[in-house]
Amino acid sequence: MCIRIKSLRAVAVVLALILPNSVLAAQSDIEAMMWDLVTTTDDISHVEAFIRNYPDSEHIQEARTIADRLRLRQNAHSMEDAIFQSIGSVSYDVPLAFGNEILIGRTLSEIIETSPEYPPVAGLPEAMWKEQTCKSCHTWTRQDLCTQANNYVSMDPAKYREKMHPFGGLLKINLRNWAQNDCE
Ligand code: HEC
Repeated sequence: MCIRIKSLRAVAVVLALILPNSVLAAQSDIEAMMWDLVTTTDDISHVEAFIRNYPDSEHIQEARTIADRLRLRQNAHSMEDAIFQSIGSVSYDVPLAFGNEILIGRTLSEIIETSPEYPPVAGLPEAMWKEQTCKSCHTWTRQDLCTQANNYVSMDPAKYREKMHPFGGLLKINLRNWAQNDCE
């Protein structure tokens, strides 16, 4: 006799009935390990695999929220990548071609000699930052700037775009591309 099994879920139920308890325990251990991975990964394929494999998990709703967030991040990063694919990557001593009127035409090496457009801390009195050059608060060497730029590579764009100091998200988008270009 041939038993027709309609879905993977049905296979799982049949397996649950015939497999010994120890194997089932191992299955739930695997689910717990996969969930741990989902909560720490930036790789959407792991989250999608969890959703596919454990549709009845108690974490399924949270997993879907994480997948949505990672998808948004991926889309934003793809858009940024597309911009630089068309205008060329950022290099330290080449004038920026993307940004606003303050950034375009200036090189990163020139920008770290200027004064910020936005305060480092919201509400800081203008006298304390507006005419100050970066040097009065930072010691930006090319290497330090590269280290900072690398922070933006995998960071959620919503995070680095909303923090306005020193020149809004547009500078950080440039810095991210520069880091991806090995801080050339
Ligand atoms: C008055 C002091 C001051 C000046 C002037 C200043 N900064 Fe800052 N900067 C800070 C402080 C304080 C922080 C840390 C803020 C925080 O952690 O939220 C910071 C953070 C930063 C960051 C990290 C932002 C992020 O995404 O977390 C960058 C990049 C930066 N500064 C670049 C510059 C550049 C470039 C200049 C010059 C154009 C400049 N800063 C001028 C005080 C200053």
